[in-house]
Amino acid sequence: MPTIQVDDGQVSLHYHDAGTGDPNVVLIHGFPFNSGQWRPQLESLAERCRVIVPDLRGFGDSPLSPVPYTVIRLADDIAELMAALGIGRAVVCGLSMGGYVAFEMFRRHRECLAGLVLADTRPQPDSDAGRLNRARLAGIARSEGSGPVVEELLPMLVAPVTRQRRPEVVEQLREMMMAARPQAIADALMAMAARDDSVPLLAEIDAPAMVIVGSDDAIADAADTREWAVRIPDAGLAVIAGAGHVSNLEQPETFDAILFDFLDSLPGAAG
Ligand code: MLT
Repeated sequence: MPTIQVDDGQVSLHYHDAGTGDPNVVLIHGFPFNSGQWRPQLESLAERCRVIVPDLRGFGDSPLSPVPYTVIRLADDIAELMAALGIGRAVVCGLSMGGYVAFEMFRRHRECLAGLVLADTRPQPDSDAGRLNRARLAGIARSEGSGPVVEELLPMLVAPVTRQRRPEVVEQLREMMMAARPQAIADALMAMAARDDSVPLLAEIDAPAMVIVGSDDAIADAADTREWAVRIPDAGLAVIAGAGHVSNLEQPETFDAILFDFLDSLPGAAG
């Protein structure tokens, strides 16, 4: 996996770079995952366009951040990565925490966006109780390691039908999450707790946008998602029946069909 230095050389980001052609697509993983979360889409997208899948700082093969950071900084990392790769504009697709980063990409780097895909995410900031819970989990990660945090989060991640019919998805998630270093988990929790409110941004989103959510998402509620998605002018909305919070892994074929339809609908798309 190649590496690029960002943030004044303080951080090296590892990333996958596959396929060729427009539109370039950047896939941003959720928490506490890594680029492996996008394995099915890395393969399917690479057959039709260029796809970039980074490990956010601290996750996967990207080393721990030497300093605490914000979600804003994660968006700046992506913009710097794109610039270093000579990518002027891309469709940015983020799932959950990756969606928080995608909202910041719109706020700070609108010129980089050919489109936005917001999957299993939410524009609202954390509640006070949510922030306290993040601090609690960060404390557990620091004192007891990743294991207890992973076991607490895992039951919320997939739909009951995925757990029953595709237990290998749960195992894949567990393995990916257990690979997350405790410090990376704590850093990302604190960054997410401090993220800005993106609700006021919704009406301003003038990039082509697609919102995707699993009908059984226990973290980004589908009913709530319907309510905020309609506030983005002309955004599409797809609810994947029987998928939970990690809809791209739970139902990769359906997720890909939605993503490919969206790419085909973009101005200048051939198909
Ligand atoms: C994620 O999947 O990225 C997390 O559920 C996001 C969060 O904890 O808010």
